[in-house]
Amino acid sequence: MDRIAILKEEITKKLSETAELSELESIRIAYLGKKGSITALLKGMKDLSADERKTFGAEVNKLKAFAAEKIEEKTAELKEKEIEREISAMPQFDITTPVDLSRGSYHPITLVQRQCEAIFKSMGFAVEDYPEVVTDYECFEALNIPKHHPARDMQDTYYLDNGQLLKSHTSAAQNAILRKYSKNLIENGMPIKAIFPGRCFRNEATDACHENTFFQMEGIMVDKDISISNLIFFMKTMLSEVFRKDIKVRLRPGFFPFVEPGFELDISCLICGGDGCPSCKHSGWLELCPCGMIHPNVLREGGIDPDKYTGFAFGLGLTRLAMMKYGIKDIRDLNSGSLKSLSQFTDDE
Ligand code: DAH
Repeated sequence: MDRIAILKEEITKKLSETAELSELESIRIAYLGKKGSITALLKGMKDLSADERKTFGAEVNKLKAFAAEKIEEKTAELKEKEIEREISAMPQFDITTPVDLSRGSYHPITLVQRQCEAIFKSMGFAVEDYPEVVTDYECFEALNIPKHHPARDMQDTYYLDNGQLLKSHTSAAQNAILRKYSKNLIENGMPIKAIFPGRCFRNEATDACHENTFFQMEGIMVDKDISISNLIFFMKTMLSEVFRKDIKVRLRPGFFPFVEPGFELDISCLICGGDGCPSCKHSGWLELCPCGMIHPNVLREGGIDPDKYTGFAFGLGLTRLAMMKYGIKDIRDLNSGSLKSLSQFTDDE
């Protein structure tokens, strides 16, 4: 057998006997390295005649390519096996096992979020999820907040190098959700009814009332002839369910570029029932939820004709709601990860 066939057989045999990734590098060096057997064959060609060199050279190059390919294949095979070994060594979880709540509890924000979701679902609203990283367009431009608009000052957030940002309010999902459902509204006459809870971020110094990371729940409803009465009805129903008593609400004018008219929705104070106490600064009212009628520019940007359709939007502060519902005084406790303070709340269903 000639030298090339012998080497080919030898490489094949060695590779088939190897079970360790580290050995493959030694095999590569032994055949393809500077002093390797195949490299030596190429070097020895200088003693051959021009004709012999041509045919032999082609053969050796084929052998070289064969060795490189086989080593690469074996490397991939062994890497794969290594990953399989690592996976099978990992502890196995059964993700369908029911949660054992005697050994843990839901976060208070999860509790109010789920409760609000259930209430809105029962009133025919879809629950939408939305990314935390969004574009300037989604967070501001599509909401009638052009570049350099002073309303941006209140929503300073965290920017990524690529120009994207961590959403400063759940309103950032409005445009996408209007677009998602506009066809159904226009072609099939189905009202758009959706809520979208989510985590929001602001570049904010923290204290008992301010956090750089908090939760909101946005809601929108768009159809023909939607009015402020519809907004009041849905908000009052939702809040009365959450607090398990009849809650009085009132609207005050408020400015947000994406609604016209815009409001601050207040609820009667939960502590004094509206008579006036230190918690409500003796006014009998607590500010809870900014809202309004969706601005025609926002509807238009979402593919909906504002001459034919109207809608309301609200931005409920879920973090604030959880604090009110459970009497949590310091907002920072919610992100503290302290089980002592966070595990004492339960679902009151
Ligand atoms: N996105 C506003 C904020 O975080 C809150 C808001 C105001 C949402 C009015 C709305 C709205 O949907 O109609 O400051």
